[in-house]
Amino acid sequence: MNRLRLLWDSSVGKKVVMAVSGLIWVAYLVTHVLANLLVFQGPGKINAYSALLRGTGGALWAPRLVLIGALVLHVIAAAQLTGRGQEARPVAYAAGRRPHASTLAARTIRWGGALILLFLVYHVLHFTVGTAHPDFVEGNPYQNVITGFRDPVVVLVYLVAMAGVGLHLYHGVWSSGRSVGISPPSPRPLRRSLALVLALLVWIGFSIIPIAVYAGLVR
Ligand code: HEM
Repeated sequence: MNRLRLLWDSSVGKKVVMAVSGLIWVAYLVTHVLANLLVFQGPGKINAYSALLRGTGGALWAPRLVLIGALVLHVIAAAQLTGRGQEARPVAYAAGRRPHASTLAARTIRWGGALILLFLVYHVLHFTVGTAHPDFVEGNPYQNVITGFRDPVVVLVYLVAMAGVGLHLYHGVWSSGRSVGISPPSPRPLRRSLALVLALLVWIGFSIIPIAVYAGLVR
């Protein structure tokens, strides 16, 4: 227990916690995007997949609790690391901060994370609880996706959020590899191929769903 405490108290330990909790969410997102792409095959498969998960009854709460726990640890560690950074450097650099390699994804990691958190609350109310959905039908995710993306504002919210998720993943996956010591330092962003592939899969895979539904390609 003492070792866990020591790990949590150190900055490196918090980065490892961020890496592991982030990767749990990456695994969920890859599964979630592949499951959602079943929408292109009509209502049968996606609704059956949802029914299968729900059919496990209370057992569905085990992975849910893992995801919630990972999210809470990820956000607390991020806030504490940001706080430590500000305490260590309360006065800004006179000539601006010049990081080793700066990408849009790295510069937006904190605001992007906050935006994703807000999106997640809206998303669960939209497609799981249904209170933020105009025409929610319990147990029929296919129908909920089709009617949910009729509104162009909702489509826009999802597209902005998915761009945020893609950017967050691109920087997060690469830097978590750095924290646990598996990615070499890379000043050239294009060498971060695993992070790029995952980010593109999640960004494009999710984004084509609201676009296709709004364009009437999936009804
Ligand atoms: C266009 C993008 C997305 C679509 C169409 C979509 C669709 C859905 C649908 C239909 C459900 C309800 C499933 C069911 O009732 O069986 C759901 C649940 C959920 N989604 Fe998404 N999703 C998208 C993006 C995301 C993203 C980016 C995240 C995370 C950042 C996310 C996290 C979740 C979570 C946590 C749940 C609740 C799962 C549960 O009930 O335990 N989704 N999503």
